[in-house]
Amino acid sequence: MEKLVALVIIKFAFGLLLNAQDFNDLAKTPPMGWNSWNTFHCDINEEIIKEVADAFVTKGLKDVGFEYIIIDDCWQVERDENGTLVADPKRFPSGIKSIAEYVHALGLKFGIYSDAGKKTCMERPGSRGHEYQDARTFAAWGVDYLKYDWCNSGQQNPYESYAVMSDALKECGRPVVFSICEWGTNEPWTWAKDIGHLWRISGDIRPCWDCTGERACLGVMNIVDIAVEKKLSTYAGPGHWNDPDMLEVGNPGLSDVENKSHFSLWAMMAAPLMLGNDVRNMSQQTIDLLTNKEVIAINQDKAGKQCYRFRDFGDTEIYRKHLQETNGIQQDAFLLLNRGNEPKKISLYLEPQAEVRDLWNKKNLGKLNDSRFEAVVEPHDCVLLKVSGLNFHN
Ligand code: GLA
Repeated sequence: MEKLVALVIIKFAFGLLLNAQDFNDLAKTPPMGWNSWNTFHCDINEEIIKEVADAFVTKGLKDVGFEYIIIDDCWQVERDENGTLVADPKRFPSGIKSIAEYVHALGLKFGIYSDAGKKTCMERPGSRGHEYQDARTFAAWGVDYLKYDWCNSGQQNPYESYAVMSDALKECGRPVVFSICEWGTNEPWTWAKDIGHLWRISGDIRPCWDCTGERACLGVMNIVDIAVEKKLSTYAGPGHWNDPDMLEVGNPGLSDVENKSHFSLWAMMAAPLMLGNDVRNMSQQTIDLLTNKEVIAINQDKAGKQCYRFRDFGDTEIYRKHLQETNGIQQDAFLLLNRGNEPKKISLYLEPQAEVRDLWNKKNLGKLNDSRFEAVVEPHDCVLLKVSGLNFHN
């Protein structure tokens, strides 16, 4: 009898250890996918989700690495008599499990949303007090990714609230990426590394370049500035990422060059790449932008480094991201950005041996005259370079 108990304890402990290891290995590079919120808000249903999954395949998004299809808030309406979450029967008549199966059959992964408080931001049932039950429900449905919000959390302790769901996921019997959506209020970068794979660093993004001023909301550059001011690049690495929120690329509000710079900045920041546009209806320009493999490779680089602001000239800036070495040769990405409203010349000084490739123009520039790259960059536009063979590190 004692032997049996000991065996059960060992098996259980070993199982937990394995789960913890699996959990830590889940997002070694920033997760890539699509989330329903930015375009559809509460107006979602199973047709949309399935059509988005189809579009991942037909538009080439799956081929370049986009894999998670995530339903945000408003899929849930109540709990049943057993306390199990119930999906909106009008909008999701086939049930969540069947949608997950549809997504999986396309070779993609499926994600869902809940909240650490008693209610979600849209006043749907949250997971507070039901964490283990909900984690088991999600696992039974085939959920691969959970976005976990912070609305209606009152005086709850953020670390404890997220840790309990993290523990529940580690024990639910299925690998689930855990996305912490606490908006950066309690500096999750200082405590979330071991309990989640990504954490939001700010409030919600809006489809604008710089929303400072008349509207109190966050645009692309406002969120980039938060990451820079709080020096967040030091907290990112394989398995744990700063999340500057879902992409607005392709949504009304951003110009073509702003889309390009937005995507480049998210790639440089090693940000999770969660599309927030209607991928069923994209212009060719948006498709080309989102499927640029070399830009995505900067984001997915195995070293897992987030860029930092390398030079700040006011309206123009240079960001630098250290990449994994190739055959002992240092690799770097540099983003030259014009955030101002006039065309500006931007210069980047390199070293004579450095070889340069322009990633948006898909052009090898080789070694440069005077070791200097120089370009006139249009307002809100950027140049993204991959540089091989540098020696300097600052
Ligand atoms: C919060 C989150 C958003 C979205 C909504 C849903 O605002 O930050 O990303 O999930 O809730 O209600």
